Amino acid sequence: MANVTVIGAQWGDEGKGKVIDWLANRADVVVRFQGGNNAGHTIVVGDKTYKLSLLPSGVIQGKLSIIGNGVVVDPWSLLDEITRAQGQGLGISPDNLILAENATLVLPLHRDLDGAREARAGAGKIGTTGRGIGPAYEDKVGRRAIRFADLADPEALEVKIERLLAHHGALRAGLGLAEARPEEILDQLKQLAPKILPYVKPAWRVLGEAIKEGQRVLFEGAQATLLDVDHGTYPYVTSSNTVAGQAAAGAGVGPTAGGYVLGIVKAYTTRVGEGPFPTELSDETGRLLGERGHEFGTVTGRPRRCGWFDAVLVRQSIAVGGVQGAVLTKLDILDGFETLKVCVGYRLRGETIDYLPAGLRDQAAIEPIYEEMEGWSESTRGARSWKDLPANAIKYVRRIEELIGAPAVLLSTSPDRDDIIMMLDPFQG
Ligand code: IMP
Repeated sequence: MANVTVIGAQWGDEGKGKVIDWLANRADVVVRFQGGNNAGHTIVVGDKTYKLSLLPSGVIQGKLSIIGNGVVVDPWSLLDEITRAQGQGLGISPDNLILAENATLVLPLHRDLDGAREARAGAGKIGTTGRGIGPAYEDKVGRRAIRFADLADPEALEVKIERLLAHHGALRAGLGLAEARPEEILDQLKQLAPKILPYVKPAWRVLGEAIKEGQRVLFEGAQATLLDVDHGTYPYVTSSNTVAGQAAAGAGVGPTAGGYVLGIVKAYTTRVGEGPFPTELSDETGRLLGERGHEFGTVTGRPRRCGWFDAVLVRQSIAVGGVQGAVLTKLDILDGFETLKVCVGYRLRGETIDYLPAGLRDQAAIEPIYEEMEGWSESTRGARSWKDLPANAIKYVRRIEELIGAPAVLLSTSPDRDDIIMMLDPFQG
């Protein structure tokens, strides 16, 4: 099976964009299967920097790119992104970009709700990206969402909008938001339809045919396992399943189609938004990691919280996601640290545990148990072979492999597309 599924193994921002771009070069089709424009990928190619949010990374290479049914799509944001990408010289058209007809729309009322709830929650907020992702998924599961196929049928659309507003009307009133007017939404969607419908197709069919023909498919995950609605640090998570198992349901293929599962792992830990973070460093070291690693959110620009590598969390992500190989990224950010710490277990009320407990109170109470490792003074930035790496950097990688229970099959050593050390080609894996 020559397909690959890529997922993040921490709280996102592991450097998936570059790895996905690199893999997209080797693929024929690239598919997004969950999330929405809460995701942000930065891809550097020569002197050009592309910032993608909803568009699958295959658009940079001109590969067939599919936005699967598992994605929630803000159509206006997608059209803006297409225009921006075209302005950067990327050839995007309905010939190479497909939007699943059964994908859910994110509407302005979802953003309103996201913002109003977060504002009202005060200190108890999730710290969402404010893109309306959670409310859109709620409507999907609540069976009242507008889907792209509905745009082709204005009469049905009218009924669906009524149904949607029957629910949102009460919520908006309770939150002190202005009443949403059905005719305004209908009008917006009618104007949108001719622009977006050319991209709307039965994506599952196109994908099924590509797989039958033996084309190589790359399933591109967004966010990461610790933000998964089931397996993450609930409720401080996103509203979709981010694990590799979602690739099948969110794209419309069988469970074996995902192929080799690759987990992206950053050499230290970061998170944006609220929620538990056992190895967080609120000191000078944390600040230094953030500064060196340019740890600011691609979507919101928020500074990311930084901390030491947490092998317990990554081992758990690898287990629940069926990750077969890891890509270790941003090792160069650790260059020059005299000593490095790696979390190998937790202490919880006097006991030692080797997993993240599910309860919030326990998650807040755990204390990391660290193993110290000697750092390296040489630069690893841009290394393209093992022999370019200092001995202590190799030791660090080997120890991480041992602790997380998966081999590092790729090492990314700078944001540049070509700075990669490959131990195994995931498409041959
Ligand atoms: P939402 O997905 O906007 O609802 O945000 C829920 C949580 O997921 C917040 O903590 C966000 O910061 C986080 N989040 C969502 N998307 C990303 C991402 O692409 N990278 C990192 N964190 C994300």
